[in-house]
Amino acid sequence: MSAVIPIPFPMGGDNIQAWMVTRMKESMQVLKDHVHFTVDPSTIEGSNDFRQSLAGNDPSAPPTFFTGKSMLFVDDPDHRRLRVLVSKVFTPRYMESLRPRIQVIADELLDKVLEQGQMDLVEDYAYPLPINVISEMLGVPQADRSQIHAWSGTLAHGLGLGRKDPEVDENLRAFGEYTAQLVAHKRQHPADDLISQLIAIEEEGDRLSEDELISMITLLIFAGHETTSNLIATGSMMLLDHPAQLEKLKSDLSLVPSAVEELLRFNGPSTIAGPRFATKDIELGGQLIKKGEVVIPVLKSANRDESQFSQSEELDVTRKINRHLAFGFGIHMCLGAPLARVEADIAFTTLLRRMPNLRLNIPRENVNWNFTLSSQGLASLPVAF
Ligand code: HEM
Repeated sequence: MSAVIPIPFPMGGDNIQAWMVTRMKESMQVLKDHVHFTVDPSTIEGSNDFRQSLAGNDPSAPPTFFTGKSMLFVDDPDHRRLRVLVSKVFTPRYMESLRPRIQVIADELLDKVLEQGQMDLVEDYAYPLPINVISEMLGVPQADRSQIHAWSGTLAHGLGLGRKDPEVDENLRAFGEYTAQLVAHKRQHPADDLISQLIAIEEEGDRLSEDELISMITLLIFAGHETTSNLIATGSMMLLDHPAQLEKLKSDLSLVPSAVEELLRFNGPSTIAGPRFATKDIELGGQLIKKGEVVIPVLKSANRDESQFSQSEELDVTRKINRHLAFGFGIHMCLGAPLARVEADIAFTTLLRRMPNLRLNIPRENVNWNFTLSSQGLASLPVAF
């Protein structure tokens, strides 16, 4: 199969040429070549601005990760400036220090359902764990988390490549307004949390504007939980689908970190990296990509590339993985990967240790998936234990 495949991509009334990149080598080439590819089409002369055509034209709406200037959608040097401000917090060492607290959260969630003998693994475990962790880091009050759940759900499902459901604007606005109010409140009442630290940086001078601050916080809240909960839920489902692998893991929980990497590879939450736009004509996998055209690295496909992984269609929790692309690659590679890894490690270890008889509580064909072009997760996962 060709590594670069043309797909129709209607956007803003135009038919723009778009390409799916299906293999590891070419996907990495796109993600690391910041000269020929950009995440910000507005920098290409004469190009259709992908996000502006979707963003809605309401100048009174507060910025969000999607409508404002978040690190995901800017190139260097702005990208580096924004990322450096938060990178210090997202180091593997700091994430390791969160372990005891994440363990308490995981145990408390399972304590609540243990006596029932059954739960919805999505609602009762996979969803609340990451949102509570990122909210505590940022300083988002407990009482607001279910509202954030609702906004994020609509955004995750309604906001895809070239697609925006009607209710998305309203939810983006509400999420942005909420975040702006939270920032205003924390300006008055600084606390020991990441939002207060970022406000201090913004107030110090010219390193972070108010628009960037609010966009960044919405990005951290959204990216900080939606994907990780999908990893925990989908990962559990994949293990239930592969009983021999599940048994292997249960009999040796020290395999969990390698199982997490394999679950990320085999069926990670992000189907694609954000679209890139060619800044100049360039050849990719033998295909000429013209300036302004859209290039979409399909991470799930690259992660099954048989030239990189033996038996790439098999789930093997003992697999030694050199590199997968589930967190992307290059300068935009996931900032939260160390956090997601610690959370997933604790989530799977705790689940399998405390519920060794975990099994699906509905027929397999009734399991409900949420698919968008950019991500994939489970609507619910009823299990018994
Ligand atoms: C299993 C969980 C996760 C997966 C699969 C995942 C996936 C990704 C991917 C593929 C990208 C790159 C997108 C691109 O290049 O277009 C990304 C970027 C990002 N992720 Fe994650 N993510 C996860 C968890 C998290 C967590 C816990 C956070 C915490 C805050 C986070 C924050 C971010 C941020 C801020 C970016 C933008 C980085 C940049 O542009 O420099 N993610 N993520």
